[in-house]
Amino acid sequence: MSLKLDFSNVVDVNLGSEHGLGMEEIQSLVEKGRRVQQELRKKAEADTLGFYKLPYKKDVFTEILTFANAARKRFDYYVHLGIGGSALGPIAIHTSLKDSYYNLSESPKIFFPDNVDPDWIHDLLKHIDVSRTLFHVVSKSGATAETAATLLYFMKYLKEALKDNFYKNLIFTTDPVEGLLNVIAREYPIKCFRIPPNVGGRFSVLSPVGLISAAIAGVDIEAIVRGAAEMAQQCDNDDLMQNPAFVFAAVHYLYMKRGKNISVMMPYSNKLRDLADWYRQLWAESLGKRYDVHGNVVEVGQTPVKALGATDQHSQVQLYVEGPNDKVIIFLEVEQFEHNEPLHNYFPQIGEFNYFEGKSLGQLLNYEKQATELALTNNQRPNLTIKFSEVSAENVGAFFFLLEAATAFAGGLLEINAFDQPGVEQGKIATYALMGRKGYDKKRKEILEQLEK
Ligand code: PA5
Repeated sequence: MSLKLDFSNVVDVNLGSEHGLGMEEIQSLVEKGRRVQQELRKKAEADTLGFYKLPYKKDVFTEILTFANAARKRFDYYVHLGIGGSALGPIAIHTSLKDSYYNLSESPKIFFPDNVDPDWIHDLLKHIDVSRTLFHVVSKSGATAETAATLLYFMKYLKEALKDNFYKNLIFTTDPVEGLLNVIAREYPIKCFRIPPNVGGRFSVLSPVGLISAAIAGVDIEAIVRGAAEMAQQCDNDDLMQNPAFVFAAVHYLYMKRGKNISVMMPYSNKLRDLADWYRQLWAESLGKRYDVHGNVVEVGQTPVKALGATDQHSQVQLYVEGPNDKVIIFLEVEQFEHNEPLHNYFPQIGEFNYFEGKSLGQLLNYEKQATELALTNNQRPNLTIKFSEVSAENVGAFFFLLEAATAFAGGLLEINAFDQPGVEQGKIATYALMGRKGYDKKRKEILEQLEK
């Protein structure tokens, strides 16, 4: 595994004193960082913060692999039903580690319908044979409206195709005991995988949530968790200035204090683009909080934005370089692309093309990244780079763990609870009420009254 955090372009010697951070400023957070680290370690050991232990659950990986090997033979299609933390990680693994046109040539074909747009879902239905499809329903709570609704949608077709044997094409990943999926699974012999209760949805990618679809697509899940475990060691370093999770958190914490409340993640790689989507949820839901742990109103958090290099150089970078200096940019850079053939100028009459001669698309992409980095730095715009030696399962696993650990550190520095999501729950409750779910009558009345005003 080789994933490195380069934060030289936030340091004042490169960025200038107005927008750059002094090394001593970062170091001044080390003492607080140590206290946060002790707290996090205690919680990990007491098993209240379960994501730290996910890379070591060997028995779970074996169970997933055994199941996936059998499923690959039995099914031609795999449909993943889940949303938010139950979908973004699996999608990111799939797009980063599988052929970008996987479904055109490989089987089982894999789909992630993580929304309830009826036309979109209907389109999918046209392209699968339900009787040959494994539906993986992923919901930690087992109740999320979108996931339940898509399950019910496909149930109609499963029942039509398989009658009482519909359950043979279903698997659930959910809480070990709680939730409505468990009620169903108690009635029908549906294979269930578990999300440990101490692992929040957005921290669950290294559990069956993310690993089942990966294993079914033939991704080396053991390499993913190996990379995560190696990164876990680095993120446990007592020397906090060498600890990438602390440094990432400290830099962002200091910039939040200076009012830079936008975090742009900009992969210079199409393969890595959905990692930025996964990060958006992790950073936004974990750190966007009204209250701190002492009950004070703090209203903190950075708005995470996803951009893609080089595509968004032609869309967003003008704003990043010259607009409000309120952002911290995180580049994702791939040092070695798997395929990197040299270009040749087939139009010698056009001398202006000669600069491409012998250069590869990968070189062009990385020079473009360097050029954007320079433009930002020269305009005092803070930017960091997470360098992937290559796009590999180890590095993707390491990336997940690094950002999860950094988020936990950032929550500690901000003195907020990074592991709840009361704002999301408010929306979920209002949806249940509006849809007329049992037990939500009072809430429904309140909302309708509010809407009538
Ligand atoms: O991070 C979270 O907890 C949420 O974003 C959830 O992942 C999302 O709401 C889906 O919830 P569930 O897995 O319970 O269906």
